[in-house]
Formats: sequence, structure tokens, C-alpha cells
Amino acid sequence: MQYSDKIQLLQSEGAFEVLARVKKLEATGKKIIHLQIGEPDFDTPPNICDAAIAGIKAGKTHYSASAGVMEARQAAAEYINKTRNISVTAENVVILPGAKTGIFGGLLATINAGDEVIIPNPGYPTYESIIRYLGARPVHMSLYEENDFRFKAEELKKLVTPKTKMIVINSPQNPTGGVLTAEDLETIYQLAKDNDHWILSDEIYSRILYDTEFVSVASIPGALERTILCEGMSKTYAMTGWRLGYVVVPTKLADYLFKLAINNYSSTNTFIQDALIEALTGPQNAIDEMVKEFTKRRKVIVEGLNDIEGISCLYPKGAFYAFANIKDTGLTSEQFAELMLEKAGVACLAGTAFGASGEGYARFSYANSVENIQLALSQMKSTLASVKASY
Ligand SMILES: Cc1ncc(COP(=O)(O)O)c(C=O)c1O
Repeated sequence: MQYSDKIQLLQSEGAFEVLARVKKLEATGKKIIHLQIGEPDFDTPPNICDAAIAGIKAGKTHYSASAGVMEARQAAAEYINKTRNISVTAENVVILPGAKTGIFGGLLATINAGDEVIIPNPGYPTYESIIRYLGARPVHMSLYEENDFRFKAEELKKLVTPKTKMIVINSPQNPTGGVLTAEDLETIYQLAKDNDHWILSDEIYSRILYDTEFVSVASIPGALERTILCEGMSKTYAMTGWRLGYVVVPTKLADYLFKLAINNYSSTNTFIQDALIEALTGPQNAIDEMVKEFTKRRKVIVEGLNDIEGISCLYPKGAFYAFANIKDTGLTSEQFAELMLEKAGVACLAGTAFGASGEGYARFSYANSVENIQLALSQMKSTLASVKASY
């Protein structure tokens, strides 16, 4: 059978590929500590689960409006207004099965073949995959460890050409845990305004921050008209499996996303939108608890990684990933991740799973218990020591 040329341009995601390998190893009886996962290990708070169950029992099991149930759009608009200090309405919100759908739809609705899209490198692999799928060109905006995994403004400005159509940002960031400053966001906005670019702002980790305040590019006066703000429930409310997110966009773009929904998945699951309303308007203490726990684990993993010869690691400012510099081990990122999986029984991701600028790094998710993290650190330390001794 023949397949389309375009479908072959889609790339996979390192995290899912490693998970498949880990499952195979586990099936042979091998014990693996999962530090590759990109999802909170906590359960969804019970009040949110109860809202969905009540929705099913109330018969909310039919199609919903394609852009989402109006009360859910309203709740998301109010939440965004409160957290970003802006003024959007339900008309600006489209409820989606995951923030990823917002990234996909946002790119589909704005990018033509031949356009250039500036994306962070290292960065979430989905951006590059979809841009290539659309026949457009991903242009890499490098993030630097010595700059707290932020871009360099002068370098970014040089990436802009007449073909540039959009700048993608993600703060707090996957995989580095870096957080952009208000000044960085102002640079992005001015560049986008001066050259008439879209800004896709992936804010999925907006509530998982340490010792720093969240700032959104959408809060800059004038930015809303060119911003695709992607948010979701997966990370903040430990709801990855629910597939629930939303975008905040100009109303014309909301109409296009609505059409995409009609032609693709019809609507987001109806009773699950009750869970979104409960999550955004109900008690928020479960998130505070989760971030408190992540804060503890962050200390354990960063201190532990820095205690291993050949590895150094900055304290991430957000998300739940430690992006460790492994250059002094003498291994490439791929070799390092392979060695950790096969010999130390620890699954992590090679930095190169997030782009070429990830060479020399490995991503560790600390969405795992302190005990498991400590065990992983000790197994990694002894594996690296024995490899070194065998030289
Ligand atoms: C940066 C980033 N954006 C988007 C997503 C996807 O989120 P969702 O589960 O809402 O589709 C992820 C998930 O790992 C992510 O890391």
C-alpha cells in the first residue's frame, strides 16, 4: 500500500519511544526507574474526578459544541483573565482534547508551506514535527545553559527573515526547566509586532514554578491579537490521561479552530468539560501540595546529579525536569541515555531528543518518589564509576 508523502514528515516523541523500550525491558523482568516521564505521578484531585462523574450521571454524554461547552469556555476565560491580568471573553477560548491539539491547530491555521517558524532548541519536539509536516521550515532559537536556558536576544533578532511567520515560546520550558523573564517576553513581543509575526506561547507549565513568578507574553498590552496561548490541564491538575486543554486566541482564529474540530474530532468530551470547570474554579490547594512535593524532589535530584562525577545540573526554575550537563562523562547524549537504561536501570531522555542543542545533556523527570530518585542517583553514580574504572 502507498502512504502520503506528508505523513512521513511527522516525527515521533523521544519520551514515547523510550517508554516503549522500557516496557519491553520490564517484560523481561528488568527493574527500571522511570525518570523519562513527562507527567505528574499524582492522581487527579478527587473534586475534579467527582465533577466528571456527576457530568456522566447528569447525562452529559452527547456531543458538545465544537468550540466547547459555553460554561467551560467562560471558566477558562475568567481563569486566564485572573492569572494573566488581561481581558478575554469566552469567544476567545476553544476547549480542546489537550494543549497539543492547540499547538497542532494553531500551526495548521496560520502556517503555509515555505514559511519559517522560530522554535526553541532544545524544545518540545512536537513543534518541529508539525512545522515540517506543513512544509514550513523550523528555525532554531538556541537556549543556553550559561543564560539559565534562555535565548540570547541579539541572536534571536538575526534569525528573523522576510519568511518568518511565527515565534514559538514555551515558559516554563520542557526540557530545560528554564523560565523566560519579562524582558525576554518584551523582546519577543517587539520582534513579533515589528515584523507582523504570530506568537505561539505554550504555557502548559504555568503553575509549576519555584521561587519565581509566572509571566505571560499575553499580558503585554497589544500582544493578544497575535498570540496563540496554549494551556492545559495535564500538568497543573495531574490530568494527562483526560486529554483536556484549551487555547486563548483572537476570535477569527477561534472560528478556524472550531472548523478544525468539526472536521476532525467533532468536540472535546462533554462531561470532561465539567472537570475543567471544577479544576479552574474549585479549590487549588492540591496544586500547592504538588508543587511543594516537586520542590523537595528538585533539591534531591539536582544535588544528587551534581554529586556524580562528570555531571552538573542547574536548578530548574519551573516544570519538573532537570536538564543535566553530561559533557564531562565523555559520552554523547545518546550513549549516556543508553548506558543509564541498560546498565543503571534508569530511564532518562537524551538531550538530543529535543533538538541538536540538547547534545551533551540528559533530561530527568522528577515526577517520581524521593526514594526512587535516590535509588536512581545511586545506580547512575556506580554505573558511571565502573565504566570509568574500566577505561
Ligand atoms: C511543552 C509541552 N507542551 C504541550 C504538551 C502537551 O500537553 P497536553 O497533554 O495538554 O496535550 C506537553 C506535554 O508533555 C509539553 O511538555
